Amino acid sequence: MSLLSVNGLTITAGDKVLVSNLSFAIAQGSRMGLIGESGSGKSMTAMAITGLLPRDIAVTGSILLDGQQIVGAGERAMGNLRGAASAVVFQEPLTALDPLMRLGRQIAEPLRRRYRREGLDDRHIKTEVLRLMERVALPQPERLARAYPYEVSGGQRQRVAIAMALACKPKLLIADEPTTALDVTTQAEVLRLLDDLVRDTGMALLFISHDLPVVANVVDQVTVLRQGETVEQGAVAKVLQAPANPYTQQLVEAARRFDRALGGEP
Ligand SMILES: Nc1ncnc2c1ncn2[C@@H]1O[C@H](COP(=O)(O)OP(=O)(O)OP(=O)(O)O)[C@@H](O)[C@H]1O
Ligand SMILES: [Mg+2]
Repeated sequence: MSLLSVNGLTITAGDKVLVSNLSFAIAQGSRMGLIGESGSGKSMTAMAITGLLPRDIAVTGSILLDGQQIVGAGERAMGNLRGAASAVVFQEPLTALDPLMRLGRQIAEPLRRRYRREGLDDRHIKTEVLRLMERVALPQPERLARAYPYEVSGGQRQRVAIAMALACKPKLLIADEPTTALDVTTQAEVLRLLDDLVRDTGMALLFISHDLPVVANVVDQVTVLRQGETVEQGAVAKVLQAPANPYTQQLVEAARRFDRALGGEP
């Protein structure tokens, strides 16, 4: 059985259809890329899976995550699933962080929730916070744990947000354009980190991006959305080699031009 199974997902705001009849599945430990231009419904899909959609947005279809139906699930059921089943890293790390709380305490919070859930005592929290900070390659963890979000760089904030997601030990990590707000070098580092972490922990990954080449190196399968419609779906190598849909062909061609401009393969 798939860890995440989305079937006929339709998301509407009033009479506007934001996502139409979307279906895909992610097996335990595997990686899916959700690609599409701005406004294509990628974040709406991520929020539907985590149960974070605003109330005035309607959802139909089915989202089975770790055996539980999310569509129509109450806040309480979602509270139990969030963290344990899925955790999200957003585009702008500041949205995930409390500006007035030291970074170490922010990472400790999801750890505490998880320890409670698993019935463990939380004596080891401080050690675990520092271990997680090392795992996401934050320098001088002891010092940074005492820093506030505004005192560290954008890349470091995103590493903290990733550490917070990891602290939940989710079965599925949802990364919604996690590197878009970062400069190119930091982008590559954070991407490599995510790739490593997913490999090490065996988490499944839903990686959202408007950037096909970014996604191609990290995922096995892709779903391409355009204006809420699924225009292409399949193994990433196959989609890159022989995109069936004109829109995907454009994305692939743009990616090739970009590669050539950087002096990559012809
Ligand atoms: N609260 C809302 N109510 C109504 N429509 C909304 C709401 N939030 C977003 N939308 C619309 O839903 C559509 C999909 O938005 P979504 O945020 O999922 O796009 P996206 O693919 O994540 O784009 P981006 O790459 O810019 O993040 C857009 O047309 C957007 O205007
Ligand atoms: Mg988005």
